[in-house]
Amino acid sequence: MSAGPTSSWFETPVSNAEVADCRVEPFDGAADLDGILAVEAASFTNPWTRAMYEWELQNRSVCHILVVRTPECRVAGFCAFWLVVDEIHINNLAVLPEYRGRGFGTRLMRRVLTEGRRLGATRSTLEVRASNEPARRFYEGLGFRATAVRKHYYTNPVEDALILWREPEHAANTIPETE
Ligand SMILES: CC(C)(COP(=O)(O)OP(=O)(O)OC[C@H]1O[C@@H](n2cnc3c(N)ncnc32)[C@H](O)[C@@H]1OP(=O)(O)O)[C@@H](O)C(=O)NCCC(=O)NCCS
Repeated sequence: MSAGPTSSWFETPVSNAEVADCRVEPFDGAADLDGILAVEAASFTNPWTRAMYEWELQNRSVCHILVVRTPECRVAGFCAFWLVVDEIHINNLAVLPEYRGRGFGTRLMRRVLTEGRRLGATRSTLEVRASNEPARRFYEGLGFRATAVRKHYYTNPVEDALILWREPEHAANTIPETE
């Protein structure tokens, strides 16, 4: 796998000035992938594999990954998303259990939304397990709204997915996207 990101916006510095205890940064090669796989294993019953990420990372014009770093942890969280024309498709997002509840996920998503908007995205979507109350509240706070249900979408255990969308009008009173 190639070591570094190729998309121009990954190389654009974005201020982390307000972030005292974590930084959101672009994916930076194999060591980040090891960290992402550790976050996956700690967060999901069906974690994505290294092979799945390596396949994704072959198409860097569509697949983007941002990671949350702390002074002591190279990858405390991450978000993998696609940019499809004017839409952000969130594929995976997680924070290590020991770092949850500190606002890291919010900082990460703000950055994802900011970068997506900079690349031309006007709306964002994702699927979430119907029983995943923490994540549902998390996304609701960021302006996402449930619009449909995909029956039996998940396995291990089998469960419905809620399809969430964040439309510009939903975003109006949620967290600003600038950092
Ligand atoms: C969802 C997740 C990424 C949130 O990350 P986080 O860093 O803990 O989130 P934040 O600290 O920024 O929390 C932001 C808001 O989310 C909601 N939230 C987060 N954790 C919550 C919990 N356990 N219960 C209820 N609401 C919760 C709250 O509204 C919170 O705002 P508040 O702190 O003002 O109450 C994290 O819980 C996680 O990694 N979960 C496992 C993986 C997962 O489910 N990913 C989503 C798949 S679609």
